[in-house]
Amino acid sequence: MESKNVILEKEGKIAVVTINRPKALNALNSQVVKDLDNIIAELETDNEVYVVILRGAGEKAFVAGADISEMKNLNEEQAREFSVLGNKVFRRLETLDKPVIAVISGFALGGGCELAMACDIRIASEKARFAQPEVGLGITPGFGGTQRLSRIVGLGKAKELIYTGEIISAEEALKIGLVNTVVPLENLMDEAKAMANKIAKNAPIAVKLCKDAIDRGIQVDIDSAIMMEVEDFGKCFTTIDQKEGMTAFIEKRTKNFQNR
Ligand code: CAA
Repeated sequence: MESKNVILEKEGKIAVVTINRPKALNALNSQVVKDLDNIIAELETDNEVYVVILRGAGEKAFVAGADISEMKNLNEEQAREFSVLGNKVFRRLETLDKPVIAVISGFALGGGCELAMACDIRIASEKARFAQPEVGLGITPGFGGTQRLSRIVGLGKAKELIYTGEIISAEEALKIGLVNTVVPLENLMDEAKAMANKIAKNAPIAVKLCKDAIDRGIQVDIDSAIMMEVEDFGKCFTTIDQKEGMTAFIEKRTKNFQNR
């Protein structure tokens, strides 16, 4: 499915999703968020896609935030609805049963930083800039920023960034663990695709179950989390790909995973 605001392209086992509103620096209005939701729904049922890359159109921005002109005149109830919509869609992305790599060329501000944080892995260009600048607009982050930033960079740094609204460089984002890696802009998509292909070579059900165990386990106490790993480890042994992976190792041949 392809829509004007969000484009889905497939290259073998990799899907590239592009937020496509470059004139507004890919700002997220409610229609863009709904279109992204439809693309995620399509990816949920696509067994041919093993890894998703999410980027913004153009080089200047990943996403410069939620659309300020749309938000300006919202009342309390409408603002809550907008926040519920964004959070629902970002959570759907976060729990998609495939790894999602955010590719951040330029600005990832407000809702853009929040969207990147709902992805599994973040690769940034040297020109990327990050912030949760909402308090400067008289609002709190509304698409998960108050919750995910502290989980990724720790409470102290999250509070500093959210209270000041300061824009930080890619280098600083790397230092605090907000991004996984920083590369020159011209290498950005090649790096992302190389990582996506590396992931896609592995057994997709095992990768999916790793995501499940990591993401659910981090929310609970260690003993419950370990039991989640035990369950997911067990499930792997019901798959054809576990037999294939281990047989290929013993027979010293190339693996041929089938996502089954
Ligand atoms: N919403 C709506 N439009 C936006 C936008 C946004 N978040 N960010 C950029 N745009 C639009 C600008 O209005 C401008 O449109 P026009 O050409 O029609 O005037 C166009 O994109 C280009 O932007 P600028 O001219 O401002 O470009 P710049 O290079 O001078 O500045 C920028 C770039 C620093 C990113 C600046 O655009 C900016 O500060 N944008 C807003 C960033 C922001 O505050 N984001 C947080 C939004 S609140 C939020 O996201 C809440 C939440 O958690 C859900």
